[in-house]
Amino acid sequence: MMNYKNTDQDYSRFARWLHWGTALLFLLAYCAVYYRHWFTEKQTPENMVALHIHLSAGISVGVIVILRIIWRNLNVQPELEPGPHWR
Ligand code: HEM
Repeated sequence: MMNYKNTDQDYSRFARWLHWGTALLFLLAYCAVYYRHWFTEKQTPENMVALHIHLSAGISVGVIVILRIIWRNLNVQPELEPGPHWR
């Protein structure tokens, strides 16, 4: 499969999906729980849907984090760009 494994030049497409997937799910978990608090009435279907979106997104983040740790250990890491490390 193309772009599946990291090279010493670049992260693979799969690694990028894991990265941005984590970011999106994290944001979704956050938005869903506050949507529930601020914009829905208690004990309504909408209220429960928002809670379940929060739970699903949060658990998915946990699963992806475990996959990312495994992925990191199975792959080479690209060299850092030259330049100061704080960038
Ligand atoms: C990316 C992961 C997660 C983030 C960023 C996150 C964040 C939050 C935040 C900000 C709140 C609201 C706190 C408040 O009332 O001010 C909350 C509530 C809550 N979270 Fe999470 N959470 C995550 C994952 C999970 C997971 C995996 C579970 C359980 C399986 C969970 C269960 C709950 C429950 C039950 C509440 C209370 C819901 C409510 O009162 O409406 N969260 N979470």
